[in-house]
Amino acid sequence: MSTDRVSVPAPADWHVHLRQGEMSELIAPHVKQGGMSLAYVMPNLSPPVSNAEQAASYIKSLEALAPETKFLGTMYLGPELTPDEIRKAASLGIRGVKSYPRGVTTNSDSGIEDYDVYYPVFEAMEETGMVLNLHGEVPSDASKGICVLNAEARFLSHLEKIHARFPRLRIVLEHATTRAAVECVRRLGDTVGCTITPHHLALIVDDWAGRPINFCKPVAKTPDDRDALQEVIREGHPRFFLGSDSAPHPLASKYPSPASVGSTHDFVASCGCAAGIYTSAILLPLCATILESFGALDKLEAYVSANGRAFYGEPAPAGSEITLRRASSKIPDAFVHPKHEDKSDADATKLQVVPFWAGRELTWEIA
Ligand code: DOR
Ligand code: ZN
Repeated sequence: MSTDRVSVPAPADWHVHLRQGEMSELIAPHVKQGGMSLAYVMPNLSPPVSNAEQAASYIKSLEALAPETKFLGTMYLGPELTPDEIRKAASLGIRGVKSYPRGVTTNSDSGIEDYDVYYPVFEAMEETGMVLNLHGEVPSDASKGICVLNAEARFLSHLEKIHARFPRLRIVLEHATTRAAVECVRRLGDTVGCTITPHHLALIVDDWAGRPINFCKPVAKTPDDRDALQEVIREGHPRFFLGSDSAPHPLASKYPSPASVGSTHDFVASCGCAAGIYTSAILLPLCATILESFGALDKLEAYVSANGRAFYGEPAPAGSEITLRRASSKIPDAFVHPKHEDKSDADATKLQVVPFWAGRELTWEIA
């Protein structure tokens, strides 16, 4: 039976990048526009959000930009995080600590190399109920046979080890992309959750190889891996939920040109396109469209609201339903900061962000 309207209580995005400066001005209001009531915000700013005070003041700056959205803050796992700092952060309402292995993605240069030294921090997190959010990839190292395609599978032993040592610590394996990760999280206890992005429910390797707009970390994997992600969402497994990993980059960073990088030499030497896919502004209709495409529309509420809210202990506020109606709507080609609207598209300084599936049709819209 096909429905024409779907209502979901207070959708929540448990992994989103909202940046700083002009980028933040442009996209913080998009969280609500995309149908989300709550955003759990990543700390990989430049420099990273590395202590309790910085996290609290970052959340205040987001609230000023988008007063109707509830923002929950995180800190970047690093040397400033002592057990005392964790207790201070918990008292300020900061909810989690994000760990990035060094060098695996955007602004991860100060990421960690070894988890054992953080065990006293994890202990304080366990005590205070703070969540450990793991970017689940090990750094590429050809001498050990590690590359972007197996970096997540090779990470899973770290997850298992931390969980075995701290069984009461809530841990989220972020943006899982592989069957191995899904099976691993299924095997572990109730304190281990897993976010799955809508784009990883749609993409495979072929979609990003040669197409910077679909390039993100971790990279999308094989059709079988994508099937495993779809299966666990179709099943409505309670520990798997939405974290969009919406990660905007200016178009000039996704598609660098010699002019934007400085010289042909620098361009050829460096040409890495930025990793990240932008979905905040279209998120709920995108999730509905993608879930319906693999027969899981009846699990939309579990995916975007119930499961993540239960894991984090953040029940949906009363009267907070949002309704989608079946209607074809075109995804915008780009979102441009108002201060940059007069610039030409060729201007490398123009702040414009191209969303996932730009120009394509969604089959649901917010009513
Ligand atoms: O693709 C990604 N982009 N993955 C991440 O882990 C970070 C993110 C970003 O901040 O751009
Ligand atoms: Zn992320």
